[in-house]
Amino acid sequence: MRERDELTLSHRIDGYLEDLFVPKDPVFEQALQEMARNGLPEINVSPNEGQLLYMLTKLSGARKVLEVGTLGAYSTIWIAKALPPEGRVITLEYSSKHAEVARRNLERAGLSDRVEVRVGAGLATLPKIAEAGEGPFDLFFIDADKPNYPGYLDWALKLSRPGSLILSDNLLRNGDVLNAGEPGSSEANEIIAGYNRQLATDPRLESIIIPLSRGHLDGLGVSVVRS
Ligand code: SAH
Ligand code: DHB
Ligand code: MG
Repeated sequence: MRERDELTLSHRIDGYLEDLFVPKDPVFEQALQEMARNGLPEINVSPNEGQLLYMLTKLSGARKVLEVGTLGAYSTIWIAKALPPEGRVITLEYSSKHAEVARRNLERAGLSDRVEVRVGAGLATLPKIAEAGEGPFDLFFIDADKPNYPGYLDWALKLSRPGSLILSDNLLRNGDVLNAGEPGSSEANEIIAGYNRQLATDPRLESIIIPLSRGHLDGLGVSVVRS
């Protein structure tokens, strides 16, 4: 198939899966509209990836979740909706503007009592969470600035228990990770390629990356902390 046809096919399959499996809950549309109204970048997970996060959260039986990178809380809402009534999410966001949009979206979704948005650089907030003894968490979603992913993974491991699930977004970068170590590969690309090697080889983890595509190809890392 020509590349153009493949692109169309990937969009069509994404739409097919969304129509089949993603619940038509207006809360998600409203959250995206609020983000657009406030000029937030469209870098949230797709509806299909949201449904995947929802499924993984349910399957894991998670009750305590830590997310790094809130944006407008679109992914947060998917995860929070999969929790039991006593479930809790702490989500970390650098931008106070993004955090305000996120809090409004969580309020509208009826999830304010389950989700706490903490403003600051992730690598500054994570040590405080550890010091305060707020761990261990059952599930992590790492989706903030890519160069700090290795640092976020270190903290996730410190704040985990055997069996915790660590999910990491954007690990395939439209195939750029294939060109790591070659001329033109960016620093972020080198760091994510190294991150993927760590997921594959770190003795504390068992992992896979699920490729996800809607025109642009990317991947979700799924790791379990070993017993
Ligand atoms: N998880 C969201 C998307 C997150 S986009 C979703 O799928 O709906 C990445 C977010 O990380 C942005 O809002 C950005 O402001 C935030 N971010 C960037 N650098 C950060 C840092 N050092 N600490 C915490 N958040 C950061
Ligand atoms: C970007 C960040 C993301 O988390 C994402 O899913 C897509 C793009 C970005 O910073 O460009
Ligand atoms: Mg992402």
